[in-house]
Amino acid sequence: MNKDRDHIRYMFDAIAFRYDFVNRALSLRRDVAWRKAMVTALPEGRDLRVLDLATGTGDVTLAIRKARPCARVIGADVAREMLRLSQKKNAPSGSPGGGVVQADAAVLCWRESAFDVVTVAFGVRNFTELDAGLREMHRVLRPGGTAIILEFSLPANGMLRAAYLLYFRHLLPRIAGLLSRQPDAYRYLNRSVEAFPYGQDFCDLLRAAGFENIAARPLTLGIATLYTGRKG
Ligand SMILES: C[S@@+](CC[C@H](N)C(=O)[O-])C[C@H]1O[C@@H](n2cnc3c(N)ncnc32)[C@H](O)[C@@H]1O
Repeated sequence: MNKDRDHIRYMFDAIAFRYDFVNRALSLRRDVAWRKAMVTALPEGRDLRVLDLATGTGDVTLAIRKARPCARVIGADVAREMLRLSQKKNAPSGSPGGGVVQADAAVLCWRESAFDVVTVAFGVRNFTELDAGLREMHRVLRPGGTAIILEFSLPANGMLRAAYLLYFRHLLPRIAGLLSRQPDAYRYLNRSVEAFPYGQDFCDLLRAAGFENIAARPLTLGIATLYTGRKG
């Protein structure tokens, strides 16, 4: 389920103006709690250097800045319109040395060991080159640094998964299409989630990219999973 880079960029720019509203509505605000769980996984430290990849409209950068006002948080994304909204939302909270950068996860412009933490929420599933993106995350982390990744997954319980898939395949794309006025983007959502590795399979990809101490924590019955990994 790999769409090419320009298509991904175009798709997210097209839904940018309704992205936050649709997220909150479809997840019944669980997305806010999931990003808070990401923040609780941050390592100790007052002035962490954080890169939030696939930052979108900047909800993760905002949550990190709230929790760690001294952190230097940079948001990177391929989609210009998403970045523009992120900049607008993040402006009041400011960030010394932070900001937004248009960048593709597969070819990051930062030097090795530039960050203490790299975060990605609901982004890795969209990377056109997933392995390259994970390797780049590892490269720009300092030794001992932490990657925190939030991504959709499917419930492990068979009955729950069947019920969720019914909603996810048939109801969600219709509601989201109406709310966003971009039905294609939300037909892509359930297909991309179902095709994407999760749980142990995703942990294996993190290991192959060089990460150690990998952990996966299912959230909300397993419809999302929080992964953490360390650079040795
Ligand atoms: C579902 S949104 C997630 C946005 C945000 N992280 C959040 O929590 O709401 C996925 C984002 O990934 C970005 N993206 C997709 N492929 C990317 C890539 N190769 N490099 C950087 N960003 C990418 C898209 O432009 C989009 O803004």
